[in-house]
Amino acid sequence: MPRIAPHPTAPPTFQLHQGDAVTWLRSISESSVDLIITDPPYESLEKHRRIGTTTRLKNSKSSSNAWFQIFPNDRFEDLLIEVYRVLKNNRHFYLFCDAETMFVVKPIAESVGFKFWKPIVWDKKKIGMGYHYRSRYEMILFFEKGKRKLNDLAIPDIIECPRIFRGYPTEKPVSVSEILIHQSTQPGEYIIDPFMGSGSVGIAALQQGCHFSGNDLSAEAIDISKTRMHAFLNPEPTLLDLITEH
Ligand SMILES: C[S@@+](CC[C@H](N)C(=O)[O-])C[C@H]1O[C@@H](n2cnc3c(N)ncnc32)[C@H](O)[C@@H]1O
Repeated sequence: MPRIAPHPTAPPTFQLHQGDAVTWLRSISESSVDLIITDPPYESLEKHRRIGTTTRLKNSKSSSNAWFQIFPNDRFEDLLIEVYRVLKNNRHFYLFCDAETMFVVKPIAESVGFKFWKPIVWDKKKIGMGYHYRSRYEMILFFEKGKRKLNDLAIPDIIECPRIFRGYPTEKPVSVSEILIHQSTQPGEYIIDPFMGSGSVGIAALQQGCHFSGNDLSAEAIDISKTRMHAFLNPEPTLLDLITEH
């Protein structure tokens, strides 16, 4: 469990934890994190799927929201209080969500202290599901604690990147998080994701030379993320490596 932020010059490292996001955040020291990027399984995902009181979404590779449990809207206040507390001052916070959840999250985030700048649009380049204007984008809400300048003021608020097909349910492309990390950190800083899924934020963090801690309720998410991050930090030798070694 991270109690203190890693040293800025150390090689990138990662730690993974299985548990509830809010409980995990409560175990992290105040003002110890440089950037939070996260993608909660928001309630509107299950609008047409709720069965009884315990919600586990259908486990099917063809479903875009298979496998995971929903994080109810009435837990966002507890979540955002902790997100604000663990973030250092003069830092950014990004939250993936849809247009419906944006209206839930924005006022709560502002009430706990965040400045809301704008939704960034992730344009997936191809249409998906829906009845009324089929979905082609997701939102990434951009918040600030204190004041921090973005590293590149020429980056637009629409990020174009094809969606991931047949990956972890609602898996986000690493390259989308790379842009956010590049904008809002320096190498050696410390990034967390309390709902990490397949670890796309973690891979982007390591790629950008940042330290990462991730959490998820699901053992499967932990396994997938651990495998990906180990492979990233310890790549298999290529044929060329093997030839030049001998
Ligand atoms: C939308 S997915 C994240 C996908 C991720 N961004 C990726 O690129 O793979 C949400 C994740 O939250 C996890 N989850 C659901 N409820 C949770 C909770 N209360 N605490 C922590 N994780 C939770 C699910 O298991 C799921 O992996």
